[in-house]
Amino acid sequence: MGRSLSLADAPIFSKDNYNYKMNTSKQLEYPVHELIDQRWSPRAFQPRELETHQVRSLFEAARWAPSSYNAQPWRYIYALNQSSDAFKPLLECLFPANQLWAKHAGMLILALAKMGFDGKEGINRHAYYDLGAANYALTTQATSMGLHVHQMGGFDQQKARELFNINEDFDPVAMLAVGYKGYPEQLPEKFRALEQPKKDRMRQEEFVTRFMQQPQD
Ligand SMILES: Cc1cc2nc3c(=O)[nH]c(=O)nc-3n(C[C@H](O)[C@H](O)[C@H](O)COP(=O)(O)O)c2cc1C
Repeated sequence: MGRSLSLADAPIFSKDNYNYKMNTSKQLEYPVHELIDQRWSPRAFQPRELETHQVRSLFEAARWAPSSYNAQPWRYIYALNQSSDAFKPLLECLFPANQLWAKHAGMLILALAKMGFDGKEGINRHAYYDLGAANYALTTQATSMGLHVHQMGGFDQQKARELFNINEDFDPVAMLAVGYKGYPEQLPEKFRALEQPKKDRMRQEEFVTRFMQQPQD
């Protein structure tokens, strides 16, 4: 029997030094599926309409996400840009810097987490986790259909609650802009340089450590 090695000092936990510079790269360092490789969050979207079958496939992907107790705590409110009266209130929930570019997306989605369980007391502490999984499934489906998704935390939660009459059982967590990718030139100057598929990522050694039993002396 080996003795457990404490991971308290493992590299992934010991970077509390304010001046520590994470080891990052913009390269793919090991092969991954093309749906993972091709996903990124553009700001430039083409003013091109989305069709009902596309919308349904996106939410179908979310539907099949895993969730704790199969509680499926994801909820979505969406509007298509082509229905401008419906699109406007969703757009207005976004912080102004996001509105600037998200106004051209084919679709805006408000993603909510249902924070309680049906027929059971207490808070579902995995609600956010499961909503994230559903959003990633939706995003992967979008990638497979030649669409891009840009998720946003920059929106006014209170405004969303008021506009869409959302009660305390649900938490508006994120908004998603979905559509066909456009061209950097159509963006305000300040966003153009950010329009890059591969942004910095921590290298694996910064966030993953292999646990090993320490051999006995
Ligand atoms: C929860 C969440 C909130 C985000 N909020 C914003 C936002 O308000 N505005 C924005 O432009 N991008 C936002 N992003 C996009 C991230 O900046 C982006 O995913 C990150 O820089 C990595 O880039 P990539 O998705 O192109 O790989 C958000 C992403 C997530 C997952």
